[in-house]
Amino acid sequence: MKRNAQPLSSRFMASRPPNSRFLSASIFLAAIFAAVALISSPSRSQSALPNKNSRQYTGPGSCSSPACHGSIGPRTDNRVKQNEYSIWIVSDKHSKAYTMLTGPVGERMAAILGIGKAETSHKCLACHALDVPAEQMAHTFDKTDGVSCENCHGPASAWLGQHTERGWTHAQSVDLGMYDSRDLLKRSKLCLTCHLGDDKPGEEKYVDHEMIAAGHPDLYFELDSFSAYMPRHWKEPGEPGEPDGTSDPWYDVREWTTGQAVQLQQALLHLAARTHGTVWPEYSELECYACHHSLVPATQSWRQARGYTDRRAGDPPWNASRYVIFREIVQQVDEPGMQKLDADLMRLTKLMSTLNPDRSAVAALATSSAQAAGDMAVELNKMSYSPELAMRLLQRISSDADTISNQDEHSAAQAAMALQSLFVAYDRNAKLQNSQELRTAISGLFDQLQIPSSYDATRFSRQMKQVNSLLQ
Ligand code: HEC
Ligand code: HEC
Ligand code: HEC
Ligand code: HEC
Repeated sequence: MKRNAQPLSSRFMASRPPNSRFLSASIFLAAIFAAVALISSPSRSQSALPNKNSRQYTGPGSCSSPACHGSIGPRTDNRVKQNEYSIWIVSDKHSKAYTMLTGPVGERMAAILGIGKAETSHKCLACHALDVPAEQMAHTFDKTDGVSCENCHGPASAWLGQHTERGWTHAQSVDLGMYDSRDLLKRSKLCLTCHLGDDKPGEEKYVDHEMIAAGHPDLYFELDSFSAYMPRHWKEPGEPGEPDGTSDPWYDVREWTTGQAVQLQQALLHLAARTHGTVWPEYSELECYACHHSLVPATQSWRQARGYTDRRAGDPPWNASRYVIFREIVQQVDEPGMQKLDADLMRLTKLMSTLNPDRSAVAALATSSAQAAGDMAVELNKMSYSPELAMRLLQRISSDADTISNQDEHSAAQAAMALQSLFVAYDRNAKLQNSQELRTAISGLFDQLQIPSSYDATRFSRQMKQVNSLLQ
């Protein structure tokens, strides 16, 4: 089985972001050009996500004039590129999100699920458009615009007029309802509301196995790679037009580590919420390819060769990919904090890899571990990064080849994205002698993820070891 229609690596190979400063020779790495980025302003508003209850949504048309955000090329004399609308409408899939609902896959999905038309069902609009009550829509608003500016930046009516005035600050806009997506913690949470799901009471926003079996792609995420692939329509510290002194050469490593911690936190909260669901265990929490792989003769089975540590042979394991790589980060930066979280997550993994896991035990472990992951996200976002740390992470992750590969395909995908993000950042800042070989070796990891149902841990591990040998 393919990862619904669009295998992982081909997505990353598909396009290159316009205006990247870091276009590399390989198309696939061009897509994942390095992050550098934005000044993190101190967080002001504590409210979690764009406030949907007050201000009005005006629609992307109100941002699209060439003098505003609809410029054809990027401006270099300003912090803001001003071609954000052009990037979004041409290269960013978010602008096509609504259209997905009316296409053949969307239509069939809706028919299988028995929800009427996908494009009128909140079950789909929740993530594929801005689905807000009529009183919050300005007359210029149109749902068919898909995932547009205000999905991420918050309702614009209150700050639209003023935010272009000289001396007007980001903080002032945030006070008037702009979402503070500069803050990496908040930015990650924002993306994950749709790329993982949102469990806020009253918010029906999730993709479960029933939807996946009806045709929906499996959801996975990694902040740095996904931002590059989106592609970014914002400047990163140090780019022309950014104020002096804001440069942060390891910003993309920060983005990756912080994104990993927030992703783990949100996934654990999501799991805890699912323990209260009618369906338990929810299959989309488990490792897909434990059930969906193609069978081979016993002598060729890597799963049988690996064995079933800590679980009964044949019980589907929990998808632990949001932790397997993250623990490498925590081991490098916070040994003591690591131990309890690690012990708890090992218990959780074992528990979730049984046929009918005890709901309250899962909820308790997931909730307390989410708290610990959240605390670490705050630390990772503010600590300083160095070439040595980036190199240690590259070496550690690639040397853990067997453990990571044996977890199955999701963890392998996270490892490939991690190695790539770290490599791009390291190579830009500290230059590697053998960067071409490394690039090819990392690209070889993605090649193996093309058809997830025929993923082979032994082969993947061998490729990771090759990456590791090039880092010595
Ligand atoms: C929790 C948020 C969420 C909900 C709810 C949701 N989707 Fe999606 N959908 C996504 C995301 C995110 C993607 C892109 C996944 C990726 O490529 O990583 C996507 C992708 C898709 C695609 C595939 C697009 C492609 O490029 O192949 C289709 C079709 C689709 N969704 C239809 C639906 C339908 C129909 C519903 C309602 C039954 C629905 N979605 C509900 C988040 C959601
Ligand atoms: C999927 C989420 C998403 C969508 C959709 C989106 N943005 Fe953004 N945008 C971001 C993120 C994340 C940043 C970087 C953090 C920041 O500056 O807020 C950003 C940054 C920006 C910036 C730079 C802000 C600064 O101070 O440096 C501008 C301007 C902008 N976006 C305008 C737009 C416009 C106009 C649209 C619609 C055409 C749009 N964005 C759509 C997520 C999004
Ligand atoms: C309101 C929901 C929503 C939010 C918030 C959101 N996305 Fe998405 N995203 C989607 C949907 C839906 C799709 C699928 C669109 C399609 O295929 O046409 C998607 C697709 C993508 C894709 C393309 C994936 C692929 O396989 O082609 C990337 C990359 C992406 N999003 C990155 C991000 C990032 C980074 C953020 C946060 C800054 C973010 N998204 C925030 C809903 C969202
Ligand atoms: C515990 C076993 C199990 C797990 C784990 C599991 N599935 Fe399934 N899945 C099934 C079964 C059983 C069916 C129904 C097959 C049928 O009707 O023929 C199914 C159906 C499907 C289908 C529709 C059948 C098809 O061939 O198109 C897709 C797609 C799918 N699953 C994807 C996934 C993905 C992606 C994940 C992980 C997020 C996952 N599954 C996790 C057991 C599982």
